[in-house]
Amino acid sequence: MIDFSEKICCSEVRVKIGREVLGELDSLQGKKGIVHPRTLRTQLKADLDIEIEDGERGKDISVAMRIVDELLSSGFTRGDYLIAMGGGTVLDVTGFSASIFMRGLNLINVPTTLLGMVDAAIGGKNGVNYRLAKNMIGTFYQPFMIVEDLSFLDTLPVEEFRRGMAEVIKYALVLDKELYDFLSLNHDSIMKRNQDVLEKVIYSSVKDKLFVVSEDERETKGVRIVLNFGHTIGHAIEAGSDFKVPHGLAISVGMVCEAKIAEEMGYAEEGVVEDVLWLLQLYGLPISMDQLNAKVEVERALKSMLMDKKRRGEETLMPFPTRIGNWRSVSVPNDTLVSFSKQCLGGN
Ligand SMILES: NC(=O)c1ccc[n+]([C@@H]2O[C@H](COP(=O)([O-])OP(=O)(O)OC[C@H]3O[C@@H](n4cnc5c(N)ncnc54)[C@H](O)[C@@H]3O)[C@@H](O)[C@H]2O)c1
Repeated sequence: MIDFSEKICCSEVRVKIGREVLGELDSLQGKKGIVHPRTLRTQLKADLDIEIEDGERGKDISVAMRIVDELLSSGFTRGDYLIAMGGGTVLDVTGFSASIFMRGLNLINVPTTLLGMVDAAIGGKNGVNYRLAKNMIGTFYQPFMIVEDLSFLDTLPVEEFRRGMAEVIKYALVLDKELYDFLSLNHDSIMKRNQDVLEKVIYSSVKDKLFVVSEDERETKGVRIVLNFGHTIGHAIEAGSDFKVPHGLAISVGMVCEAKIAEEMGYAEEGVVEDVLWLLQLYGLPISMDQLNAKVEVERALKSMLMDKKRRGEETLMPFPTRIGNWRSVSVPNDTLVSFSKQCLGGN
């Protein structure tokens, strides 16, 4: 088992990664409540068991308030523990409830998808969808502990696994050349979910994200933006398809388009785009719009892109790869962004 901690602003976040590591939670003193989807049964002993609907429909303010109600009626206080066990959607809604209950009780994230393990469980962002907007309401709230039990991945469908790999590849491309090389050399064992190799991939991803978050927890110092690589265009693709294109696939194409823009604008070294394409293809991820097999309305995608949180007046702040494992942030004029994106998304 890998066991380490990272200081993020004012809290120490403890991380445990390995197989069958859930037993680590038995030694906690205090009441334990667990939130999980109906489909995910657990042997974990808890004082309170809350079943919720998973997927985006469960990421609703009413679900967050139901969790709060159940904690209240079971007499939980701030010293107790709330365990979020599930994919990113379950972690997001539970994290939000934990942060607002009595101004915060101890949150433990137990991600059960690869995306949850390498991304959603880490960094302290949570949220619920509200009035058709994703993650409209939420807080920054660091978990007390993150327990990544690799045995959950045994049952994860290959397509969900692949989508999680898109975020892993993102870290490799902009933050971690060593991870890029490792992913290049170990494709077969990773896709076969060899435990030792997976542990290394997940550990590197968690470390990369935690490092960024420890430098810029609230996204105010221009560092956390790196995690947004591929996401400006990726989110646009999601919106343009009415959220039919899954996030991991959308950011895969988003990373290709953004790397191309970086190269065309002269920020990325020659060869970066080929390296991006090569690794995404190796993992069976889409590199162009026609591989998404979904209708994406380009005008709608572009409109949504201009409403991105990273937009600053007439410009959009974007993290660009400069060479594999390195990046810089660039303010891109919106006109330039729109015309490059149109080319990449196939609009006129
Ligand atoms: N807070 C953050 O920093 C952050 C970062 C990235 C993504 N997110 C959020 O995460 C969500 C996406 O997360 P996700 O991809 O994990 O989706 P998800 O939670 O919808 O889970 C995907 C699917 O996998 C199933 N599943 C979960 N664990 C399983 C297991 N062990 N075996 C078999 N099936 C399993 C679920 O039932 C679901 O159908 C989005 O809402 C996104 O906004 C948050």
